[in-house]
Amino acid sequence: MKNVVVFASGSGSNFQALIDAQSDSNSNYRISGLIASRENIKAIQRAETSNIPHRIVSKKEYSDESTFVTAIDAALLEFQAEFIVLAGYLSKIPSSIIDKYRNRIINIHPSLLPKFGGKGFYGINVHSAVIAAGEKQSGCTVHYVTENYDEGDVIEQVIVPVLETDSPEILQQRILTHEHSCLISSLIKTIQKSES
Ligand code: GRF
Repeated sequence: MKNVVVFASGSGSNFQALIDAQSDSNSNYRISGLIASRENIKAIQRAETSNIPHRIVSKKEYSDESTFVTAIDAALLEFQAEFIVLAGYLSKIPSSIIDKYRNRIINIHPSLLPKFGGKGFYGINVHSAVIAAGEKQSGCTVHYVTENYDEGDVIEQVIVPVLETDSPEILQQRILTHEHSCLISSLIKTIQKSES
């Protein structure tokens, strides 16, 4: 069992999916902690309900990158992190952390990367852009995290059709239901690969 720390900034439905699947027979991980970017988010409530410890590490509270890194490092050490999952964490992860966890840090993004990825493409913006571009399909991507936003190698993608009647919100919800299983299997695969 590998210790996995999840970073989240909002609802944490992906975090919840990882918690729920950690006791499955094919699981090779346990969620050892949550790093949240702010207080009062649903992801923290989910952590508390499941007795998973959390720390709040909010970038705006640190005057420079090195103190931000120190705070993240301390939380990762406390949770004995072996792998990291970014599941809707809105701050950029410092490059020294990415380097330390190279090939052991993954992110979920709600589009078919490389389409609709990069700076500014987060949350509902992604789905609004997909619909505005007249795309017939969208989906989600789990990929390794590198220093450039949304650019690391793809681990898994799920294609989801875009319907003519879709609003950005409806498309977002439909894709989210596919994100959960995609993230679980990608994490399991990432851990297996690191052990082979
Ligand atoms: C998901 O759409 C994920 O792809 C993106 O942020 C959202 C997080 O949703 N990176 P949730 O907090 O897991 O419900």
